[in-house]
Amino acid sequence: MLVQDLDTPCAVVDLDVMENNLRRCQAYLDRHGLRLRPHIKTHKIPEFAHTQIRLGAKGVNCQKLGEAEVMADAGITDILLTYNLISQTKLDRLVSLAHRADIKVVADSRETIEGLSFVMSRAGLTLPVLVECDTGALRCGVTTPAEAVELAQAIDRSPGLAFGGLMTYPPKNSVANTNAWLTEAVDLCKRSGLAVETVSNGGTPDLYSAHEVTVATEHRPGTYIYSDRYHVETHSFGDWGDCALRIQARVVSHAAADRCVIDAGSKSLSSDLLGLQGYGRILEHLDWEIYGLSEEHGHVRAPPGSEAPRIGELVTVIPNHACVVTNLYDRVYAARQGRVETFYEVAARGKVL
Ligand SMILES: Cc1ncc(COP(=O)(O)O)c(C=O)c1O
Repeated sequence: MLVQDLDTPCAVVDLDVMENNLRRCQAYLDRHGLRLRPHIKTHKIPEFAHTQIRLGAKGVNCQKLGEAEVMADAGITDILLTYNLISQTKLDRLVSLAHRADIKVVADSRETIEGLSFVMSRAGLTLPVLVECDTGALRCGVTTPAEAVELAQAIDRSPGLAFGGLMTYPPKNSVANTNAWLTEAVDLCKRSGLAVETVSNGGTPDLYSAHEVTVATEHRPGTYIYSDRYHVETHSFGDWGDCALRIQARVVSHAAADRCVIDAGSKSLSSDLLGLQGYGRILEHLDWEIYGLSEEHGHVRAPPGSEAPRIGELVTVIPNHACVVTNLYDRVYAARQGRVETFYEVAARGKVL
């Protein structure tokens, strides 16, 4: 079957592009002695996680316990879960998971550490816990290296836990600052007698500067597998030819000369703008703008002088934000050179718990 024969809207992954993204990243990190721990939230597909591992990745990174359970069910056992687990229900699920997978988690507070310690010591298990460090993203994480070492010591003292290292998800363009922050934190840990086995850095925008964070031992990119419009148009990663995830859509209405409607709306493209104008880029008509979305309609403007839309025309949309679009589809089709080879269930889709 050809991609053009698929019913629309649908998500298609170009396998050649995807494998090229994976190989290039693996070769780069190998060259610099950094372990690759891909974040699977971008694809949520166990088969793709297995491909990443086959090409050399060291385990995976998950954001949600539900994602980690899906990966473990698929036989992937080296998992770093980069989320503070707080509720008793999740802590109980974590214990079950720890019985069948080599799971590590992060913590940025004494409350998180106490909850983890309680369930792990009761289960007679030892869980590696990394201190989450906020090196500038202003999300989770301790905000100073001094706090990082205090939490590292708290983990080290807690029954059922082992201090596993430091983890950060840095903001874009912050390589030097991230390195300085983490280097100070590692030094403080060492001076207090704690070995820092893992320093886990992440992100796609600064992926190919990862080696400049010299204190890091591993890198956790997620979006690098698919890329998206945000990364191309902010010059953060690759070009249109590096975008592996594409949404195929069709022109279904052409009410006026300068605008048309495609059959992909917010339920197919998501409403994420990420600071961009428009809700995706149409590869066949780079000058058209998806200026608005209803749930099932994409409102497209074709500027004067551009090619007029034709009802029934198939278009290829590069979504603004690949990771959320992944979460909208039950399956993605996998294609090479326009031919559909197979499809994969997005098995961790909707796993927000
Ligand atoms: C904790 C953590 N690590 C790694 C990543 C991967 O980032 P990116 O998609 O920029 O590669 C993310 C993305 O949200 C994240 O939250």
